[in-house]
Amino acid sequence: MGTEYLIDAKGLHKHFKKVRAVDGVDFSLAKGEYVALLGPNGAGKTTLVEMIEGIRTPDAGEILVRGRSLNEDKSALYGILGISFQETRFLEKITVLETIRLFASFYKQPDEKIGKVIHLVGLEDKKDAYTKNLSGGQRQRLALGISLLNDPEILILDEPTTGLDPSARREIWDILLKLKNKMGTSLILTTHYMEEATQLCDRIIIMDKGRFLAEGSLSSLVGRMKMPDVAFFTVEGKIPDDQVIRQSDLVIEWDREKGRGKCEMKNVATDMPLLFAFLEENNLRLIDFEHTKPSLDDVFLSMTGRRLSEETE
Ligand SMILES: Nc1ncnc2c1ncn2[C@@H]1O[C@H](COP(=O)(O)OP(=O)(O)O)[C@@H](O)[C@H]1O
Ligand SMILES: [Mg+2]
Repeated sequence: MGTEYLIDAKGLHKHFKKVRAVDGVDFSLAKGEYVALLGPNGAGKTTLVEMIEGIRTPDAGEILVRGRSLNEDKSALYGILGISFQETRFLEKITVLETIRLFASFYKQPDEKIGKVIHLVGLEDKKDAYTKNLSGGQRQRLALGISLLNDPEILILDEPTTGLDPSARREIWDILLKLKNKMGTSLILTTHYMEEATQLCDRIIIMDKGRFLAEGSLSSLVGRMKMPDVAFFTVEGKIPDDQVIRQSDLVIEWDREKGRGKCEMKNVATDMPLLFAFLEENNLRLIDFEHTKPSLDDVFLSMTGRRLSEETE
């Protein structure tokens, strides 16, 4: 027996006139898994999740939800999906409590559920506030609370923290991590924040121009690209003309005026001692030192020639 997928989609395409918004992707989601669709604006993230949500019909391909095809029957989705859109409008002149109560009545949820959800998303002290007076982070937590009213097995969140400040973003992450640990919820999250994908998700799919460029855990994505770690450091002392560290292919790029050096390392365990020995032999005293690992942004850059952060911040 292979993995049992909650969602298993094959060969999905969606075109808008000449734009290939989703251009042939296979996507699956296992129970309890948190998956990120990470990509810049226009990558096709929203179009893809809207097909999975049954809101858009694919031009080609098939989506199975627990083994049942969405083409034939959308009812496979009912009751197991919680959705929050890229933007949510609330009725402005009703309160947080009234908003949740309204949605709870759509889902035929009992009253005690309302308090539980308000507690889960941390809006107790805002429950009597009008929705129009909420901050961006509070609005997103309200939207998240609504999507949780029916105890969804699968949560699909489209850019839940875009535009929020770091602390509001972290509050949402904490709620999502709690859901994963306590409820075993599965998550599909779209984002253009690398940190969000790496903090929350077991699997990251890098998406650009309607296609999946790569997928895996952070370490497998970075490892696959075979990109070196980099050491940056500042030294005091007379920098020698010699740049190549003896008996190795390590090269130090110096900014001699500032006393700053940069050295790429393919194997930190063996290369780092060589660097330190070189500094010592040449009587160079370290003032500061930083070791950086390749990031998802570097992976994206090496695959597309663009930076993820360039277009979005
Ligand atoms: N309803 C639509 N009509 C025409 N083009 C669309 C429509 N929705 C999305 N697109 C285009 O499809 C591409 C993917 O968009 P989208 O799925 O919204 O990407 P993302 O969510 O990653 O920003 C973009 O080029 C976008 O302009
Ligand atoms: Mg989008």
